[in-house]
Amino acid sequence: MKKQQLDSLFAWFDRYVEPFLDTDPEGAKNIQLKIEHTRKVCDVMALLSAGENLSENETHIAAATALLHDIGRFPQYRRWRTFLDSSSDNHARLAIDVIRDDHVLADIDPSEQLLIEEAVRFHNLLAPPDKIRSHTRQYIDLIRDADKLDIWRVFVELLAQPPEERASAAILGLDEAPDKVSAPCIAALDAGDIVPLATITCFNDFKLLQISWIYDLTYTTSRRLLRERGYIQSLAATLPDRPDIRQAVSKALAALSA
Ligand SMILES: [Fe+2]
Repeated sequence: MKKQQLDSLFAWFDRYVEPFLDTDPEGAKNIQLKIEHTRKVCDVMALLSAGENLSENETHIAAATALLHDIGRFPQYRRWRTFLDSSSDNHARLAIDVIRDDHVLADIDPSEQLLIEEAVRFHNLLAPPDKIRSHTRQYIDLIRDADKLDIWRVFVELLAQPPEERASAAILGLDEAPDKVSAPCIAALDAGDIVPLATITCFNDFKLLQISWIYDLTYTTSRRLLRERGYIQSLAATLPDRPDIRQAVSKALAALSA
């Protein structure tokens, strides 16, 4: 994939997302959040590509994956006014529809098209499929790490804002009661597992899930970026101060430094 092809993709993205901002202030805020997320995931992907010594061609493919991974969020929000896949449609599948309908990758080498589409399609799965060609797997792992690094940023920034200024769709409608937290979520984190989605009943549980993503990172560079950015400490500081939570978080931080 050539630099010029990547540049046209970025230009296409700007043209594509613009009309989605033409809505009420609440909607525009939510759309803006996703545009910003996409740009920052692209920034993280550039750091990951450099840190993991990707070739120039691989770096371009990874950048295209980052740019397109959440393109399904725009039609999703316009149609359902939510970013919750469970109450609308899988945003990764919607992304593939956009890529195909708009012929976004039409002038790109078919084998590279496939790599990008597969990475986009699988970026949000709880666990990526086992049986996958090794080269595709690399881009799936890259986008999953880059996406997580920016989702951490979004939530840390969100938590620093007064509740009334937050983009409504970002907290997914979860109960924000400060002391509410579910024992199975703490137990999963303490065991070094990803917190299962089914055990999440409130916003604090969701923070525990986000901390447990430490155990789902693939690349050394991702772990380094996460340590440097201190997102886990910021998230943990907003959890109830309890010994069981402190212990589970300390274990996760130790795993991050290992
Ligand atoms: Fe994303």
